[in-house]
Amino acid sequence: MKPLSKEFEETLENIDITKIPPEEEPNRQYYFIKKMREIIKQEEEMLGRPLTCKSVCIGCQMNARDSEKLLGILNEIGYHETDSEEADFVLYNTCTVRENANLRVYGRLGHLNSLKRKNPHMVIALCGCMMQEPQVVEKITSSYRFVDIIFGTHNIFKLAELIFQRKVSQKMVVDIWPDTEKIVEELPSDRKYPFKSGVNIMFGCNNFCSYCIVPYVRGRERSRKPEDIVQEIRQMVQDGVKEVMLLGQNVNSYGKNLDPRITFAQLLRQIEEIDGLERIRFMTSHPKDLSDELIQVMAESKKICRHLHLPLQSGSSRILKIMNRKYDKEQYLALVDRIRQAIPDISLTTDIIVGFPGETEEDFEDTMDVVRRVRYDSAFTFIYSKRTGTPAAAMENQVPPEVVKPRFDRLLKEVQQIASQVCSRDLGTVQKALVEEMDDHDDSMVTGRLSNNIMVHFPGDASLIGEIVPVKLTESHGFYYMGVRAEE
Ligand code: 5AD
Ligand code: SF4
Repeated sequence: MKPLSKEFEETLENIDITKIPPEEEPNRQYYFIKKMREIIKQEEEMLGRPLTCKSVCIGCQMNARDSEKLLGILNEIGYHETDSEEADFVLYNTCTVRENANLRVYGRLGHLNSLKRKNPHMVIALCGCMMQEPQVVEKITSSYRFVDIIFGTHNIFKLAELIFQRKVSQKMVVDIWPDTEKIVEELPSDRKYPFKSGVNIMFGCNNFCSYCIVPYVRGRERSRKPEDIVQEIRQMVQDGVKEVMLLGQNVNSYGKNLDPRITFAQLLRQIEEIDGLERIRFMTSHPKDLSDELIQVMAESKKICRHLHLPLQSGSSRILKIMNRKYDKEQYLALVDRIRQAIPDISLTTDIIVGFPGETEEDFEDTMDVVRRVRYDSAFTFIYSKRTGTPAAAMENQVPPEVVKPRFDRLLKEVQQIASQVCSRDLGTVQKALVEEMDDHDDSMVTGRLSNNIMVHFPGDASLIGEIVPVKLTESHGFYYMGVRAEE
């Protein structure tokens, strides 16, 4: 188990668990964390062994950050993290942005059931985006009765309380909130890396792109207060974090619901001033409202990384309109020009959907045209997936798979060819890399991330992990470099 923070322990000491639970958060959760510690301790004494937990995360960086918070709570209540799903508590944080993510979860549930038969103490919990869909919850509560706890995206902070409920009631606990105004601060979290961390700056999405289920499962946009964000990052820096990734479905609309209003660019300026913080990343930026102010802040910044993820989705103005993206092909290309003019060494990456309803060969050629003109460092390419409840799912002109697949293959080939040329542009130069881990294939090498998000492998040992060091890029392998350490 990770060492617990002294302040957190002091707070818990002042909570009286012989009384009824407090109403206000986060004290209510502290109360249940303390209650659960007693229960876990008793179970451990009874079994004569520690209780273990395994947390599995599917999906985006938001989910990854949520999983760190969930694991933080599991750790605080006394579960010991293990690598195996043969654990006493197994938690799946799910994604539903495309159908194959859902299928993966149903696939795993059968396996979990067989493990639970062998270990009656096992608790299975499911949370995340997929659980915000009523038909999913219905299916699980009727056909997967061995699941113990189901909760959604809005109440992850309640994990200790939900486990407590499960332990005392011996019944399946289902707690899904349709939406929330609430942002609960100051709960534990267990970061995957000591030197870098995701930081939520906002939750939810108001954009309703017609193919996308996110606004339905993550709710309306809510921004965290700038002072809470800055305070959290300051604390992280004190704990050794050098790089933060600011997270939001659309960071460009950060601050619109706050009083006083604040723009994302202004927030970045405040974060830039945090001493000891070395790198700032963010995602995702919606092209419709990426401001000139943001471009300027990025150009002037010494800490904001030279990388922008700018989802295109389609290059066809006609399709973009039906997707409700609120920009057209020309506006997107003009935006890319403005960004490149201000920040010439920026690396651009994107998301593209192939086979949106009604997509013609001509529309697809527009996408290929944008890809050839922008020349992305990399692109995540997706086959359109029909999501129940979204406007696009009800469109009649769905494109058949035999048409979509060849387009997808053509796009992928183009994207990869361009990326392998673009990604070698810094060959021969010295760039700073944040060393993240030992090389997978060679234990005399380490792997670092460059400002523009490309990885570099170079000779080094474990003492470099978490350090930012200059590296000469000696070989380009398309998506990554090989290098050697250079002088400071
Ligand atoms: N089908 C395919 N891809 C999708 N995305 C979102 N919804 C869908 C869908 N229904 C992709 C978009 C988005 C990324 C996170 O997932 O490209 O930017
Ligand atoms: Fe989905 Fe569009 Fe919101 Fe992104 S901006 S999460 S694609 S609705």
